[in-house]
Amino acid sequence: MKEALSGKTAIVTGASSGIGYETAAALAGAGAAVVIQARRADRLEKLASQIVSGGGRVLVAAGDASKPADIDSLMERALDWTEGGAKVDIVVANAGRGLAGGILGSDESAWREIFELNVLGAAHLMRIAGKYMVERKGGDIVALGSVVGRNVSPFSGFYGSSKFAVGAIAEGLRREVCAQGVRVSLVMPGIVLSGFQDVAGYNEENFGKTTAQFGKLLDPQDIARGILWLLSLPAHVHVSEITIRPTGQNYP
Ligand SMILES: NC(=O)c1ccc[n+]([C@@H]2O[C@H](COP(=O)([O-])OP(=O)(O)OC[C@H]3O[C@@H](n4cnc5c(N)ncnc54)[C@H](OP(=O)(O)O)[C@@H]3O)[C@@H](O)[C@H]2O)c1
Repeated sequence: MKEALSGKTAIVTGASSGIGYETAAALAGAGAAVVIQARRADRLEKLASQIVSGGGRVLVAAGDASKPADIDSLMERALDWTEGGAKVDIVVANAGRGLAGGILGSDESAWREIFELNVLGAAHLMRIAGKYMVERKGGDIVALGSVVGRNVSPFSGFYGSSKFAVGAIAEGLRREVCAQGVRVSLVMPGIVLSGFQDVAGYNEENFGKTTAQFGKLLDPQDIARGILWLLSLPAHVHVSEITIRPTGQNYP
C-alpha cells in the first residue's frame, strides 16, 4: 500500500524534542522525506539515525528558529536536498517555548525571546513557506498554537499571548493562500508532557497541582498522530484547526 506521504518532503522545526521529534518521526514513517531543525544537533542526529534505520530519508539542518537568516537557510537547504527537482510540500512550524506565570509573575527577561521564537520566527517561516507554496499552487503549513492561545489562563498569560498571535497569523495566512491550494492548519494542544515543562519553569507548585486533576496527560505522539491525520486528508479537504487535550483537561 502506498504510504500517505510518500514522495513528499516536510520541514519540521523544533525536532530535537517532544512534539517536533515525534512529528518528524511520524511523517517519515508515513513516507515523507524530512528536514529537521533545532539548536541541539546531537539530538537531531539521534532522530536521524532512528529514521534511517526505519528506512526513511532525513536531512539534519541544525539552526535557530528565531533567527530569520537560519530560517531562510533551512528552506534553502531543504530545496537543495530534494531529489528529482527541488520541492517542499509540508512545513511544520513547531519550535517554541513556554513560560511559567502570568503577566505579573512571569520572568520578564524571557518575554522578548518568547516573541522572537514563538511569533516572529514562526511567522517568518510561514511567510517564506507561503510564498513558495503559492507559486507551486499547493502545500501544507502546520503551526503549533495552544489551548492557551484560545482561552488564556492566569498561569500562562504571556506565553498564551504569543500563541494567540500564532493563531491569528495562521488564520490570516490561510485566508491569503487557500485559493492557491495551500492549506494552513493550526494545531492547539492541551497539556503534553515533553521538554516544555522544564524550559518553561513549571514545577509542582505552578503545574503539578493544577494538572493533577486532569488524569493522564498527553504524550507528544498523541499530537503527532493528529498532525499526520490532517496532512493525510485529500487535497480538497482542509481541517484548518484542531484542539487536542487530555480527556480530563477541563481548563483551559
Ligand atoms: N507541551 C505542551 O504542553 C504544549 C502545549 C501547547 C503547545 N505546545 C507547543 O508545541 C511546540 C513544541 O513544544 P514541545 O511540547 O514539544 O516542547 P519541547 O519538548 O521543549 O520541544 C521544543 C522544541 O523546540 C526547539 N526550540 C526551542 N527554541 C528553539 C530555537 N530558538 N531554535 C530552534 N528550535 C528551538 C527545541 O530544540 P532545541 O532546544 O534543541 O533548539 C525543541 O526541539 C511549541 O511551540 C509549544 O509552544 C506545547
